[in-house]
Amino acid sequence: MSQVTRYQNAALNYYMRLTNSPYLHYGYWNPLPSEPQDLTVPQFRKAQQAYADKLFSFIPPQIKTVLDVGCGIGGNAAYLLAQGFKVEGLAPDSFQEEKFLENTNHQAKFYLTKFEDFQTNHTYDLILLSESSQYMAADDIARCAANLLDSGGYLLLADMMRSNPEYKEGIFSNCHVVAELHKALMQAGFTLVKAEDISTEIAPSLDLYIESFQTWGLSTIKYIADLVSIAVPPIYLLFRWIYKRWIKKLIVEGLEAKNIFEKHLCYQIQLWQLVEKK
Ligand SMILES: C[S@@+](CC[C@H](N)C(=O)[O-])C[C@H]1O[C@@H](n2cnc3c(N)ncnc32)[C@H](O)[C@@H]1O
Repeated sequence: MSQVTRYQNAALNYYMRLTNSPYLHYGYWNPLPSEPQDLTVPQFRKAQQAYADKLFSFIPPQIKTVLDVGCGIGGNAAYLLAQGFKVEGLAPDSFQEEKFLENTNHQAKFYLTKFEDFQTNHTYDLILLSESSQYMAADDIARCAANLLDSGGYLLLADMMRSNPEYKEGIFSNCHVVAELHKALMQAGFTLVKAEDISTEIAPSLDLYIESFQTWGLSTIKYIADLVSIAVPPIYLLFRWIYKRWIKKLIVEGLEAKNIFEKHLCYQIQLWQLVEKK
């Protein structure tokens, strides 16, 4: 497993422990929080449920089988199973596999693989990428999705995307440029059926992360640093050097996440249809 994937998995596992939710996505805040005290983890969990309602309202009526790509720990799959869909999921992480099978009560098959490496002898009615597209190249998404659909099949994709193609470095730089993703999907034979921008409704989650990190994250780091400085001063000096060299920049950027998002990114739900299998 690559180092980047290991970093991403570490972040996802941290997030899962904090929220104790079966979803790993940003949620959909509707109504928007009107007071700062509405920004709480229980409200966030409600927003995640509302995200599932919103996302799956895009599924066309005739769909029966779904492949959940980058399925995380199974919240979306469990939701779809409860609606009567036949669901399979995949992700390249064995920890998620365990949680996925638990959360779906072993009713959905799980494949421990990257989408790029996935092979099967059957097709699906719909391929779902709920906040997982940013981990894969646009051409790979287009090619792999087209291979697993028959003509007329659907791709439902929801994620943060770069509205500013000039934003190329930083925490959100792995997100697709809207126009580039469009181009790759069109070239593979897809046509856009429906799209909606939900940037406003996911943004409160960024406020919540930043506020929680400021309140709990930074004070915990400071407390641990104080303890180390008392107990083992040489380790503290090393820690301080590592902090200044690598960690400080990441923290400063993390605290700016909402501004970066508003300036350079958007969050879209897109429903694509494979018109012509190439
Ligand atoms: C932010 S989580 C989203 C999880 C879930 N879809 C949800 O909405 O709760 C991103 C997911 O993409 C998966 N992922 C990352 N790289 C992948 C790849 N190359 N192929 C398939 N899944 C990948 C991660 O392991 C994780 O399950």
